[in-house]
Amino acid sequence: MRKIIIAGNWKMNMSNDNALKLSKAVAAGLGDISSRGRIAVMCPPFTALTSVAPSLSGAKGLYLGAQNIFYEDKGAYTGEISADMLISCGCTFCIIGHSERRKYFGETDETVNKKVKKSLEKSLTPIICVGETLEERESSRAFNVVKKQVMGALNGMSKEDIAKVVIAYEPVWAIGTGKTASPEQAQSMHAYIREQLAGLSDASVSQAVPILYGGSMNPANVKALIECPDIDGGLIGGASLKAEDFLKLVHFDD
Ligand code: PGA
Repeated sequence: MRKIIIAGNWKMNMSNDNALKLSKAVAAGLGDISSRGRIAVMCPPFTALTSVAPSLSGAKGLYLGAQNIFYEDKGAYTGEISADMLISCGCTFCIIGHSERRKYFGETDETVNKKVKKSLEKSLTPIICVGETLEERESSRAFNVVKKQVMGALNGMSKEDIAKVVIAYEPVWAIGTGKTASPEQAQSMHAYIREQLAGLSDASVSQAVPILYGGSMNPANVKALIECPDIDGGLIGGASLKAEDFLKLVHFDD
């Protein structure tokens, strides 16, 4: 049985004060999610990681993640953050290859691959983002684009390592737009991603890897998406900035 993962990507939002308030409210409302095979992850900006970290103690099933990582260990890389630095702030997860990083910051399948390998070397769980643009979907290239991203991200990795990743399918046209993929659209891509994972590893690994959906997920559409057989949770932007909404997503079937 795969765990359900509800991860909040706060993006470039939240002062430290507000981050602390939000994380405390999330921690207070979680309840015993771990006994239900469910985990929640908060991914604040780097600057708020240490403000948010104390809210995790005592909240079972709540984890801290970063929104990016650099693939070198240390040195002259102005503005970058290493895996060890993230771990020292309490992170156990790291989002890698978000479409906003690919679009605005030159992230490529090659850099994503290096970052995934570094995070696994350091025992951080990578949440690897893949997804097609509207133009790619409309020209029937969505499956090919996502296949290339999955292959690129996992290039040269052993099946033992592939078993440790989390994938997030985030169609770019659904991110922050209010246009969610239908459960059928998302399920068919998730099943396809799982097929690619099986080709790269084996059936048991592909069945073990959680595949999250991301793109305008909200309390109204979460249930129909997560009830699909290959959708194992969500990576949530906008709706993760309000504790009440994020908690509704975590408790989507209550
Ligand atoms: P959204 O963002 O939920 O605001 O669409 C999702 C994401 O970019 O991870």
